[in-house]
Amino acid sequence: MRGTRDLLLKEAKIWTTLEAKARAVFGAFGYMEIRTPVIEESSLFIRSLGEGTDIVDKQMFTFIDRGERSITLRPEATASVVRAYLENNLVNEMGFVKLFYMGPMFRAERPQAGRMRQFHQIGVEAIGSQSPHLDAEVIALMAGLLDSLGVNGYNIKINSLGCPKDKIALADGLRAALSNNLDSLCDDCKVRFEKNILRVLDCKNESCRNSVRKIFKGTGECLCAECASHFDTVKKALDGLKVNYTLEPYLVRGLDYYTKTTFEVTHKKLGAQDAIGAGGRYDNLVEGLGGPAKGACGFALGMERTVMALDELPVLPEGIYLYFATMGPDEYRLAFNIAMELRAQGISCELDYEGKSLKAQMRSADRLGAKYTAIIGEDELKNHTLTLRNMSTKEQRALPEHEFIAEIERIFVK
Ligand code: HAM
Repeated sequence: MRGTRDLLLKEAKIWTTLEAKARAVFGAFGYMEIRTPVIEESSLFIRSLGEGTDIVDKQMFTFIDRGERSITLRPEATASVVRAYLENNLVNEMGFVKLFYMGPMFRAERPQAGRMRQFHQIGVEAIGSQSPHLDAEVIALMAGLLDSLGVNGYNIKINSLGCPKDKIALADGLRAALSNNLDSLCDDCKVRFEKNILRVLDCKNESCRNSVRKIFKGTGECLCAECASHFDTVKKALDGLKVNYTLEPYLVRGLDYYTKTTFEVTHKKLGAQDAIGAGGRYDNLVEGLGGPAKGACGFALGMERTVMALDELPVLPEGIYLYFATMGPDEYRLAFNIAMELRAQGISCELDYEGKSLKAQMRSADRLGAKYTAIIGEDELKNHTLTLRNMSTKEQRALPEHEFIAEIERIFVK
């Protein structure tokens, strides 16, 4: 189906390897995993992301279920994590909590390179603190994660939107400035001007960007003293951690829940869809979804784009350890029994299920990345031996059948 992809064999292994690396990094920062459902009530996203955002207005996969409820395939996970934080009472049991997730998200976008209808995110949400040090830590975590995954040459852009009052001042300022320049905006931005004016700042259209830049110096103009100081502390903390970033005064991000710090990480290799990941602070979402006032901050990386940005694919874990290549049914039965015994001890073995020739079986062993092949032909069966072939050195030696398992264990455990 357009905008979706199967992940096969090697590619699935690459993803698993990257996910394992991410888990290790998240563990070091004290994050615990959360898995939320792929479907949610549509109202969750409408309330959290905001009407007038592209995601809510144009990109949600929404359907009415048999009980006449409006259901949406999650387009992102922040709203779901906050809902889960409240519904499962983490808010009272833990107060402050650090959660990470990995999984598929769904947006009905026009597919193109790096833009899918089902894509995957790895993300974190730290809920329950207003501290600017948390923002810096989350951005540093994102940078550390990218480093550990092997992404080089990325660029982190940061900005601050301020508190809700600042956002209102920002919207008012923008409205006043743009009201005489409406003709220079694209049709979408004319609608955004009426419905959700901050979204004009997200427009990718060059003429809209130029109009905005001419009349508006960026969100910094509208920050109150407290938000300006919060942002200063974030920047100083990042400087202290030696995290490279650039200031991007027009970065507001396409979701309404953001307040104060917002950020995005881009990579030249990606072309038009150049954001590998993004995030920010959302101090009003917990309250907006019915909880107490709690600050929160997080980010999500797009897995597909992260893989596209890699210079080198990760070193994959070893493939099959031992492949049994056999000639006839008696030989096969013997191999089958030994393989099952080794597997019971956690040693990965494989054999043929299609009646292939010995040569074809050796090719399968190669394709599966087997370290060793155990060959059982007529002679071996007669002499009660197996021929063990080291697939990289091509050395072969005959092993008595009764010593074979012990020898494999010895090599394997070594
Ligand atoms: P987002 O910017 O909408 O933020 O998405 C984060 C990342 O997901 C993007 O930078 C991109 O790599 C990937 N992504 C988004 N849409 C697609 C698509 N159609 N195809 C492929 N990749 C895509 C969020 O989702 C926020 N929830 C991030 C966040 C977490 N903010 C705070 N906490």
